Amino acid sequence: MSPRKTLVTGATGFLGSHVAAAWLEAGHDVRYTRRATSDTRWLEGLDVESVEWDVRDTEGLKRALRDIDTVVHVAGVTRAPKIPDYFQVNATGSARIAEAAVKAGVSRFVLVSSLAARGPDGGDGPVSAYGESKRRGEELVRLFEEKMEIVVLRPGGIYGPRDSDLFPLFEMAGKGWLVAPAGSPPLQPVYVSDVARLTVAAGTGEYAGLGPYPVAEEGEYRWREVREGLASALNRRVRMVWLPKTVFISAGVIAETAARLTRQDPRLDRRNAVDLSRHGWTCDTTATRDAFAWQAEVRLPEGLALTAEWYRRVGWLE
Ligand SMILES: NC(=O)c1ccc[n+]([C@@H]2O[C@H](COP(=O)([O-])OP(=O)(O)OC[C@H]3O[C@@H](n4cnc5c(N)ncnc54)[C@H](OP(=O)(O)O)[C@@H]3O)[C@@H](O)[C@H]2O)c1
Repeated sequence: MSPRKTLVTGATGFLGSHVAAAWLEAGHDVRYTRRATSDTRWLEGLDVESVEWDVRDTEGLKRALRDIDTVVHVAGVTRAPKIPDYFQVNATGSARIAEAAVKAGVSRFVLVSSLAARGPDGGDGPVSAYGESKRRGEELVRLFEEKMEIVVLRPGGIYGPRDSDLFPLFEMAGKGWLVAPAGSPPLQPVYVSDVARLTVAAGTGEYAGLGPYPVAEEGEYRWREVREGLASALNRRVRMVWLPKTVFISAGVIAETAARLTRQDPRLDRRNAVDLSRHGWTCDTTATRDAFAWQAEVRLPEGLALTAEWYRRVGWLE
């Protein structure tokens, strides 16, 4: 019989590429799924095999799951042109692989959901189509709870090498300024390799229950601390430019519309702008720490420095 392996979906993306590397580093055999259009540059040099599978399809899924013991389902869309796209991938697609995983005899299924599925601080649920689709994905995957061990992780904002979403902040700070919404609530981000390490802890060892488990660094931060971290990481003076929340959100809407017209990915969109200016996204990570003996190790100033260093090394930043 072939040795049992770990399947990582979404490994061609930002978080998933770090997840695949973390599982390899922990000594596991890793297979990942890719699409015909996927860019596999972050996986070059890694001893991993791959199978073609699109989350919206069943074609390839059986092959992807052959001899798989653990699935880490990272694939998802964080930005989509149309609302149904979020649900097709993040909800229906997650249910599709969970059902197939049960049939294939997978013993543990780690679902990378999002804090957006919980919704912002003090609220009572998701506030965006993205958040709703991630919540629906959790509900659908949970239906298989009796048939395999399921762990649901809910990371807050993730940053680190290979991330293009928060790169504009570094780019802006590299030019000497940082624009942020005035009076915005605190931030509680998490460095990417800490999340990747957590998927290994959650996917191995004694089963600690489904969760959902919030994932973030323990400390909360304010924008001025982000500015200080960026200034130190980039070794230059960075001025804070505060925009009224409504102006910040309008900037998100304009950037999104312009990107749509030019068929590019928006650097900022309405959802990000609303999330950053109106809502707090903090969480208590005690349950996660207790379940997996895990704690984020990289504090924001160090994480920003490591990220800036990587952006420079690959030439994204001068
Ligand atoms: N980044 C964050 O701050 C954050 C926070 C909380 C949760 N998350 C969750 O973490 C996961 C990864 O996010 P990310 O930031 O790493 O995004 P990303 O860089 O855009 O990566 C998304 C990954 O999903 C794959 N994917 C998308 N649609 C697919 C489809 N139809 N079929 C197969 N694969 C598909 C992409 O494949 P291609 O390479 O082919 O496009 C890529 O590998 C998502 O589930 C997201 O909800 C992210």
